[in-house]
Amino acid sequence: MSRGRLIVFEGPEGAGKTTQLGLLAAWLTSRGIDHVRVREPGGTALGDEARRLLLDTPGGLDPRAEALLFMASRAALVAAVIAPALERGTLVLADRYFLSTYAYQIAGRGLPESEVRSANALATAGVSPDLTLLFAVPAPERAARAAARGLPDRIERAGDAFHGRVERAFAMFLSPNWQAAHPEAGPVRPIDGGGDAESVFARVRAALGERWPDLAMAGAPAAPAPGRR
Ligand code: TYD
Repeated sequence: MSRGRLIVFEGPEGAGKTTQLGLLAAWLTSRGIDHVRVREPGGTALGDEARRLLLDTPGGLDPRAEALLFMASRAALVAAVIAPALERGTLVLADRYFLSTYAYQIAGRGLPESEVRSANALATAGVSPDLTLLFAVPAPERAARAAARGLPDRIERAGDAFHGRVERAFAMFLSPNWQAAHPEAGPVRPIDGGGDAESVFARVRAALGERWPDLAMAGAPAAPAPGRR
């Protein structure tokens, strides 16, 4: 059975991952390469409801309840969308996956790592990323982008100390020691998300080409079928 590939876009808020995921999706479409696009939390009826609770609940959520809601959303998305797409041999582009839980709930909220990892193993049913692109942007550029996005949600409002812990955790995920101790994360590659979107996208394509030369070679846009105008 052929298996597709799971490519995850990760990083703190305002790092540009959603823009880059959109550019990659458009690039794949222009080359006739089948793919599925997902984002967390969300993507199923349960996940969309969890997203509303996670981002909009006034007055806060207990950190354990928060972690388990993210993982309930993930379990539903893996079962209904990600695993079936991978089994069909399709490329899956994910806007966040469980490294966000490791950064926001373990490092940010301070939940115990081994318990969160076990719960995540249950949620993902062993579906690991084939490649994670981890976006980093200097703090001032990120803050300017975040400010341009309008009203912050519940997690964006969590404060500088929280977001500092999240950012340091993402940086730690790049270390070979961390990756060796967390094989479920798969390979994690840094992407410099600074500058204009086209320059960043060139870096994204270079990272993908390094991992999968066949994807980089998927050169020209699909030609129109003969006889069609
Ligand atoms: P979203 O609007 O999708 O943020 P972004 O555009 O930055 O990706 O909101 C998702 C928020 O949820 C974001 O603040 C990160 C957070 N999050 C967690 O705390 N844990 C998780 O496991 C996931 C997937 C997201």
